[in-house]
Amino acid sequence: MEEKKILWLALILHMITAPVYGRYYSQSVPYASPRKKVSKLHFFFHDRISGKNPTSILIARPNITGEDKSPALPFGSLFAVYDPLTVGPKPTSEIIGHAEGLYVSSSQDALTLVIYLDFGFTSGSFNGSSFSLFSRNPVTEKEREVAVVGGRGKFRMARGFAHLKTRFTNETDSGTVVECRATVVHH
Ligand SMILES: *[C@@H]1O[C@H](CO)[C@@H](O)[C@H](O)[C@H]1NC(C)=O
Ligand SMILES: *[C@@H]1O[C@H](CO)[C@@H](O)[C@H](O)[C@H]1NC(C)=O
Ligand SMILES: *[C@@H]1O[C@H](CO)[C@@H](O)[C@H](O)[C@H]1NC(C)=O
Repeated sequence: MEEKKILWLALILHMITAPVYGRYYSQSVPYASPRKKVSKLHFFFHDRISGKNPTSILIARPNITGEDKSPALPFGSLFAVYDPLTVGPKPTSEIIGHAEGLYVSSSQDALTLVIYLDFGFTSGSFNGSSFSLFSRNPVTEKEREVAVVGGRGKFRMARGFAHLKTRFTNETDSGTVVECRATVVHH
C-alpha cells in the first residue's frame, strides 16, 4: 500500500515538473555580483590575407576547384591570425597588442567566419591581460556583434560582447581595418 502511494506521488511530481517544450529560454532576471567590474574598450585591428606582410596565413583549405564563388575564402578555409591592435584606424597608429588565433570560413551561403581569437594587450592598464572571442562573424555585414567568452589576467572570468565595424577594405591585398568596441564584465 505504502509503495503504491509513493509511486503515485512520484508520478504526480513528474507531471508537475515535466518540461514543457514550448520555449528554449527562461525569463531573464536581473543579475548582480559585487565582485564584477565592467570595462569598455575601443581599438582597431588590421587584417591582411595577402600582399607583402600578411597578418593572416592560410593553413588549410579544401581541394575544390571551379564552382567556388569566393576565391580568397572558400568554405572550409582555415587561417592563423596575428593581427596588430592599434588605438586609431591608421596602420601607423600606436600598437597596443595583437589578436592571435584562428578563423575559419564557415558558411556555404554569405561569407561568414567563425573566429577563435585571443585579444592581448601590451600597454596601458591591461598590459599582459587578454580576452577571448569565440563567435561567428558575418563579415559581409558592415556592423556585427561577436561574443567575448573568457579572459586572463585582469580579464579573468570575462564575459561580454564586441561590436565590430569594417572601416576600410583594400581589395588588392584583402586588407581590412576593423573598429572594435567591446564591453567586458570581469573580476
Ligand atoms: C592596398 O594594398 C596594396 C598592396 O599591399 C598597397 O600597395 C596599396 O597601397 C594599398 N592601398 C591603400 C589605399 O592602402
Ligand atoms: C585536388 O583534386 C583534384 C581532382 O579531384 C585532384 O586531381 C588533385 O590531385 C587534388 N589536389 C591535391 C593537392 O590534393
Ligand atoms: C608591459 O608589461 C611588460 C611585462 O611586465 C613590461 O616589460 C612592459 O614594459 C610593459 N609595457 C608597458 C607599455 O607598460
